[in-house]
Amino acid sequence: MAELALFGGEATRSKPWPAWPVHDERDIAALTEVIRSGNWGGFPYPGPQTRRFLDAFIEMQRGRYAVAVMNGTLTLEVALRAAGIGWGDEVIVPAYSFQATAAAPIMAGAIPVIVDIEADTFCIDPKAIEAAITERTRAIIPVHVASQMADMSAIMAIAEAHNLVVIEDAAHAHGAFWDGHGAGALGQFGSFSMQSTKIMTAGEGGVLLCQTEEQAWRAASIVDCGRPHDPSGALKIQGGNYRMTELQAALLNIAIERFPSQFQQREEMADYMDEALSEVDGVRLLRRDPRHQKRAVYCYSFAIDPQIFGATNAVVARALLAEGIPCDRGYDPMYRYELFQPMASRLAVPSAFPQYFDYEAMRLPVVERVSGAEAMWLGEEIFRAGASGVDDVISALRKVQAALTREPSLAERISAS
Ligand SMILES: Cc1ncc(COP(=O)(O)O)c(C=O)c1O
Repeated sequence: MAELALFGGEATRSKPWPAWPVHDERDIAALTEVIRSGNWGGFPYPGPQTRRFLDAFIEMQRGRYAVAVMNGTLTLEVALRAAGIGWGDEVIVPAYSFQATAAAPIMAGAIPVIVDIEADTFCIDPKAIEAAITERTRAIIPVHVASQMADMSAIMAIAEAHNLVVIEDAAHAHGAFWDGHGAGALGQFGSFSMQSTKIMTAGEGGVLLCQTEEQAWRAASIVDCGRPHDPSGALKIQGGNYRMTELQAALLNIAIERFPSQFQQREEMADYMDEALSEVDGVRLLRRDPRHQKRAVYCYSFAIDPQIFGATNAVVARALLAEGIPCDRGYDPMYRYELFQPMASRLAVPSAFPQYFDYEAMRLPVVERVSGAEAMWLGEEIFRAGASGVDDVISALRKVQAALTREPSLAERISAS
């Protein structure tokens, strides 16, 4: 039986994975053109490269209006502020996301209300949203996690019934579609990140889709130091400098040209991964809602049964990583996430529903199980490596499972290594 690579055995995969981000002469030419133009920054806003990119992005997501921002954290904050959400307002966020999803409401002066997720999608649970609504609730930020989408039909219905703003955190979901609508184009706002690891990237960057022209004017003013962006010039709103630069936009104009073929390749390989993983004992595929028509593979997530594997996700991920598989166990529960804690401690918490704000005592059952035992995330580069990339993941997973079954005490050795 093969020795685990973690303990000196041969790694399942030693061949390098495709690099990310990719670049060629087109990127160099695009940057050179901007450098020669002398118009490097984001002022006057938006610049010609930025406008061109926004138009292409709107078309891709079938959105209405778009505002370019420095990154996908500020997009969330700008959306909240453009919607007039601030001091004392409550914003419902999932317990399973990057820290930005909860930090943005705090930056806007609001209070994040952290709720549980669904075990079979890893996205926010619509029932948990309904249970957390109070008279102070103003917005919901569903997150489309890894290659999944939150149930936007249920979320939009809840929002309509309670008059809430929906800001989709689509940092992972460029190109994804739900029921004929692009991710980020279903809610009043849709927030995208173009940070280095994202599937469309300029190193840093963000786009905020808006449903109405007025929201877009407000958002643009907030991004551009408060300058009016409505045709009459009458709209005055407090802002900062959150502008995307022309250098970023030039890279994004090339990235969006490459995007369709990369998207298709990842999606095809994700379908193959579904098939291959469903043959592995102890693996649970996440639910693919039929309304989730196009799947953006930022990462690919699935669940393991720790009883069958004889170990939790952290142990399996550690062993797989040593086998040469880019993987991770995913997020911690948001309320324990160390990057979120320093800001959380500064919240002036209303007394009405203390259970939603006592982050120390908070234990939401589904996210605890998903994060602490079951979730596995695979890197997007696997899905650009062709079928052999998927095959290597399956071989490595079977190897780790066989080793753990043969020698149950191995789980402790892996944890301690
Ligand atoms: C779900 C989610 N939301 C927001 C962000 C923030 O995006 P950025 O890094 O561009 O600020 C990220 C980035 O990792 C993310 O994963």
